[in-house]
Amino acid sequence: AAMDSGCARIELDTEEYEERLEARLGKSREMMRVVLNKAKSNPKRVALAEGTDEKMIRAAYQLQEQGIADPVLVGNETKIQQTAERLGLDFEPTVADPRSGDWDHYANRLYELRRRKGLTKNEAHELVRRDTNYFASVMVEEGDADAMLTGLTHHYPSALRPPLQVIGTAPDANYAAGVYMLTFKNRVIFCADTTVNLAPDADVLAEITKHTADLARRFNVEPRAAMLSYSNFGSVTNEGTRKPRDAVKLLHDDPNVDFDVDGEMQADTAVVEEILEGTYEFSELDEPANVLVFPNLEAGNIGYKLLQRLGGAEAIGPMLVGMDKPVHVLQRGDEVKDIVNLAGVAVVDAQDE
Ligand code: ACO
Repeated sequence: AAMDSGCARIELDTEEYEERLEARLGKSREMMRVVLNKAKSNPKRVALAEGTDEKMIRAAYQLQEQGIADPVLVGNETKIQQTAERLGLDFEPTVADPRSGDWDHYANRLYELRRRKGLTKNEAHELVRRDTNYFASVMVEEGDADAMLTGLTHHYPSALRPPLQVIGTAPDANYAAGVYMLTFKNRVIFCADTTVNLAPDADVLAEITKHTADLARRFNVEPRAAMLSYSNFGSVTNEGTRKPRDAVKLLHDDPNVDFDVDGEMQADTAVVEEILEGTYEFSELDEPANVLVFPNLEAGNIGYKLLQRLGGAEAIGPMLVGMDKPVHVLQRGDEVKDIVNLAGVAVVDAQDE
């Protein structure tokens, strides 16, 4: 029998909880529906670098069936076909098998791109045959695919390095960053950088903010960016708080920045209107921020995961921004729906290329 602890029992209103959950899921589903519909209007070729992975094959099936993308599974053709059959997926996947066929032109291209970075011709041939992340990166770089997804079966850094080396950043960018879109009941926020830059300087933070604001606009969200710290507008001054403050200055001095941004500020200042309107009424932000830029990778990665798990947010990402072509590096353990969603985001990006 339950012991009486003397404390009042906390009644959980499951109905209310479920309603809120539904409202939140509704919002993120709605946003993804818009993206996926846009993708369907002009589907693009998406190279799935881990083509033999079961989840990738299931995702390829859905992408093809629903007309969201034209998936290209990179990997051993026999294995892919056997797996698709075993899974009962009735489709003819497009496969690029690095070990069969003549891919010398990919190896030559990789060699050309990396020979002054220490890569020999033999190594280039080996990488194209053996490492599907290099293969898919060259495929996108060469224009044989419009976008690339990877990451399910690799450590994040090792999946990210080939596209960084082969595809690289966009002409107006120097840094890539990983962004999560989190949807709550009444709001959507974009968190950056959650996956790439370990210890960003002011110029990196400023650039990440611009990329993330651009991404927010792609989801029809008007960006209001906060540069986060443990200090509010100079309340603590040291090297750590100076970087986000300098980043804000860089953005305020940049004539091309056409969104509101301010900081450095604490996370609660950024998201609570009463604090922004009260103590910090001078801030450029009149409403809570929806682009949260974290001061370093520890904060960003930990922050979004806490929001997702404890704050009950629906998360879409990580979306890699700043790249020359659409590339997204998934996390190990991501689900088929995550792959499909990110492929949809990649297709919409590729439509604008
Ligand atoms: N943006 C764009 N390009 C970059 C960046 C960046 N932030 N960092 C490195 N590069 C480029 C380099 O310029 C280089 O190109 P080059 O060879 O043509 O000159 C190439 O990428 C490789 O760079 P290296 O310096 O050789 O590689 P490094 O070992 O530093 O790897 C990496 C870069 C993978 C991004 C590294 O910084 C890293 O591991 N970051 C953290 C990733 C991580 O662990 N994330 C957290 C977990 S992920 C999760 O939770 C999903």
